[in-house]
Amino acid sequence: MDTPISPSGKKEKVREMFDGIAYRYDFLNHLLSLGTDILWRNKVLRLARKMKPLEILDVATGTGDLAITLSKCRPVSITGIDISEGMLQVGRKKINDKALSNLINLQPGDSENLQFPDSHFDLVTAAFGVRNFEDLSRGLSEMNRVLKQNGNILILEFSTITNPFWKVLFTFYFKWMLPLIGRMVSKHDFAYRYLPESVGIFPYGKEFLGLLQQAGFQNTRQYRLTGGIATIYTGQRK
Ligand SMILES: C[S@@+](CC[C@H](N)C(=O)[O-])C[C@H]1O[C@@H](n2cnc3c(N)ncnc32)[C@H](O)[C@@H]1O
Repeated sequence: MDTPISPSGKKEKVREMFDGIAYRYDFLNHLLSLGTDILWRNKVLRLARKMKPLEILDVATGTGDLAITLSKCRPVSITGIDISEGMLQVGRKKINDKALSNLINLQPGDSENLQFPDSHFDLVTAAFGVRNFEDLSRGLSEMNRVLKQNGNILILEFSTITNPFWKVLFTFYFKWMLPLIGRMVSKHDFAYRYLPESVGIFPYGKEFLGLLQQAGFQNTRQYRLTGGIATIYTGQRK
């Protein structure tokens, strides 16, 4: 895999972190979100179905949950890429167990330096991945480059609740409870502190739509989920 070590070193830290929690990732995901992550991925599926994609690329695919969900929209192929071999190994086993290996192929790869030709995919997706990119603009431009003209992007990412009452409650859970439970189950101190910290500084809403437009997407739209805890962003390659 061609993943240059950057001056900031974020990519290496992210890779190590996900390698470290890979074996507990799915369990903690569903526990900490009380299963809501599954509903959010199903919303991505409903939007994807309308797009009728044949070739799908799921970047930062991790253990492949979104790739597996998207298999229900009957594409010809789904490619998932990730920088963490630990996450991919867990994903390959799940795909094998579900007899989806002929449809979904997980391979190592850096979303900010995609090893695919221009104009190759009908749909490019990312769930909780773009927040971890070292260079977000570059990652979004790469996702744009490998899409066919009028091809679609679907990004599911954490955002920020606006209702002040729910915001106080959720912030307590997200900043205090979640890191505690995450640390106890995964035995990994940093990973579940990194989650609320990275969400707190990540662009969302109109600001994120602006970044999509700068990266070459048109008809951009956002769908706020569960009061704004997460948002799905969509757009089309010009
Ligand atoms: C929070 S997980 C999300 C995994 C999966 N998409 C899901 O919905 O559960 C983030 C993933 O992004 C991957 N990642 C971070 N930066 C990446 C990059 N530049 N290229 C590819 N994968 C990356 C990490 O290794 C990790 O598996």
